[in-house]
Amino acid sequence: MAYLHGPHAEIGDLADEVSGFIRRRLHGAPLGRTATAADLDAALANSITSGGLGAAKAWRLMTDVVVANTVGIDSERFLAFIPVSPSAAAAWADAVVGAASFPAESWLEAAGAVAAENQVLRLLADFAGMPAAAGGCFMSGGSIGNLSALAVARDQQPDRRMVAVADSAHASVHNTLHLLGLTAFVVATDDDGRLSARALRDALRGRSDVGTVVASAGSTNAGLIDDLDGIADVAAETGSWFHVDAAYGGAALFLAEFRDRLRGIGRADSFIVDPHKWLFAPAGSCALLYRNPALASKVHTQHGPYIDVFRKSGDEWNPSDFGYQLTRRASGLALWFSLVVHGIDAMQEAIGKGLELARYAAAAISNADPRLSVVMAPELSVVLFRREGWGSADWSAWARRLLADGIAFVAPTTWRGEPVGRLVFMHPLTPTSVIDEIVATLVIEPPDLASHLESDT
Ligand SMILES: Cc1ncc(COP(=O)(O)O)c(C=O)c1O
Repeated sequence: MAYLHGPHAEIGDLADEVSGFIRRRLHGAPLGRTATAADLDAALANSITSGGLGAAKAWRLMTDVVVANTVGIDSERFLAFIPVSPSAAAAWADAVVGAASFPAESWLEAAGAVAAENQVLRLLADFAGMPAAAGGCFMSGGSIGNLSALAVARDQQPDRRMVAVADSAHASVHNTLHLLGLTAFVVATDDDGRLSARALRDALRGRSDVGTVVASAGSTNAGLIDDLDGIADVAAETGSWFHVDAAYGGAALFLAEFRDRLRGIGRADSFIVDPHKWLFAPAGSCALLYRNPALASKVHTQHGPYIDVFRKSGDEWNPSDFGYQLTRRASGLALWFSLVVHGIDAMQEAIGKGLELARYAAAAISNADPRLSVVMAPELSVVLFRREGWGSADWSAWARRLLADGIAFVAPTTWRGEPVGRLVFMHPLTPTSVIDEIVATLVIEPPDLASHLESDT
């Protein structure tokens, strides 16, 4: 018999190889690359065999094919979408979570892990100004966090199935509404890109079918915070459930300078923050908090003769009662450990770096060339900018060029329909010289860019 487990597991030097890989990765991640499906299918064909290739060959496939053809979202040069840049302490703690598979769905099975996760939820609730009774769970990401929260909202508002969302709401909110059989009532953001209480109040006037309001604390595209406090007023006036999607910008709760700006989040019925975004946890983590967790457990608690044992004394905190997930990775443990190791001050400093880099980039772009301008001053760590004369083909060519040259991974976007450039800063070690390199590529004329691309292929 081949040993898959235990001291005789047939894995050769794998443990040393993997720990070496993790150490090198945490010293600095390469930008990586993408590949075609045909190339990867060919490289991975016959990798799964009846007898197995053995650990050495399998590890070579992992590094040379899988890792090599994957973009380093954890690289300090990854400035697209929403980067993920785990701290070293968080990544090592997550390796422990992976190895032990703590069964963090229930207190009975994983009291230690759940209690540690709850410390982080409490910290976030306190920063937000939520009451002592607030609570929730960690989930695998913002999409499932939004889905879980809005499932609870739907239960509270069975006869009012319209959900007011800004035109800037994340795609997952729309998918959630579709899955839950709810309907989006889209409210236009103001000229500054934020949902205002005035616009929401005007839009809801005379309507009785809207039972939930969703606001963003950090819209994904532009990193803007809606008027949370004013929107909380409107939600209260209309008796609506108030959910805040703070998946990205919720990290700013750590910063005293943003608490006022985020104040209304403490009045929400539910909100989410993704530690895998700007709180430096590895991918797969969302903190979901409810003002009144009992409402959530009515919706999410799963029953069955094999799991009712989770609830014997009645005061156990079972994370699976608060979101749509039973078997659950302890996805808040890495952030807890990182906070225990480094403390809140270090976390504030690391988050603040993203703000500094965004401001540096906005200034560098504005001052570099009269053809360059920012769409708006960055509020968080996203910078949107224009380049006179460039259309979407130019922006795409520019992004491909930056990746091919190993300068950065960037992804253009649109603002109010106009193709624009977009940079997102999260990794605290991104040097300003990367921004300077990027800005230099923006002053090349499109024909030069095209000839660069031709010479590249
Ligand atoms: C504001 C916002 N909400 C929700 C999500 C979805 O989160 P996840 O990708 O973790 O499912 C994102 C992802 O970028 C986001 O930026």
